[in-house]
Amino acid sequence: MTKNLFKNEKVADQFNQYNDVLEQVLGYDSIMSVFNQYKPRKILDYGCGPGKVSLRFAEQLPCDIIAVDESQKMIDIAKKERKHRHINYKIVKNDNLDFIKSGSIDGAIASYVFINNESEQRILAIMMEIYRVLKPKSRFLVLDTNPNATGIPFSTFQNGIPGKKYNYGEKRVETLTVSENENLILHDFNWPNDMYENNLKRAGFSEISVSYPKLNDFTQDQIARIENKYHYNTWSNEKSVSPFILYQAIKK
Ligand SMILES: C[S@@+](CC[C@H](N)C(=O)[O-])C[C@H]1O[C@@H](n2cnc3c(N)ncnc32)[C@H](O)[C@@H]1O
Repeated sequence: MTKNLFKNEKVADQFNQYNDVLEQVLGYDSIMSVFNQYKPRKILDYGCGPGKVSLRFAEQLPCDIIAVDESQKMIDIAKKERKHRHINYKIVKNDNLDFIKSGSIDGAIASYVFINNESEQRILAIMMEIYRVLKPKSRFLVLDTNPNATGIPFSTFQNGIPGKKYNYGEKRVETLTVSENENLILHDFNWPNDMYENNLKRAGFSEISVSYPKLNDFTQDQIARIENKYHYNTWSNEKSVSPFILYQAIKK
């Protein structure tokens, strides 16, 4: 299995400090709306990292969350900083969710997990495990950086070199701004839309749809409310280009 950078203590700490306002506004909030509509009682957060997303969901939705990650360091930070009575943080080994019963989960997410996996075979195995634990008709939401926007600088990160065309699964450098004078350099992989669509299908999912959220999808009033809520207004290309892709798929 390939090395997971997030097992490194410094990387985990830097990721914990990263201001994920773009991910929140253009990603997690959309997932929250879907969950608000379907009211899952038990959610799986696969690759939960330091627990930022799980905690926001636990605070806003009446649900229990199983949040798993293969990085002990990430789980340590999550347990220390984002403990919640409705979240069970757990280490996952070899992509195996054997501690979760088949058909027992009402909704699952994997945010910024697949771009960090080099092996398509491994991504398929994770999707199949998630399919197994979901109840029929429940939803799996996959959020990742937009493979069609490599090289474009967004206000908090840039993925890939401008002008370079990346091949299927090719390594890419991702730079996240942690503070004015500190960047977190990550090495992820360029997975085009096909990779997601083909493997979600192979895993058994149906009704697969994708969206490309960008800031200009919101009205001026909504943007003003967002700026007020997150104390943030230094937007850049995310106004007109989506930094992310959001897949939604349903277990048959
Ligand atoms: C970029 S972080 C995202 C964390 C969180 N989902 C978020 O949106 O803030 C990616 C996380 O996925 C985890 N991860 C990557 N591949 C994994 C795998 N195959 N199994 C479990 N966790 C994995 C990493 O350890 C890391 O904590």
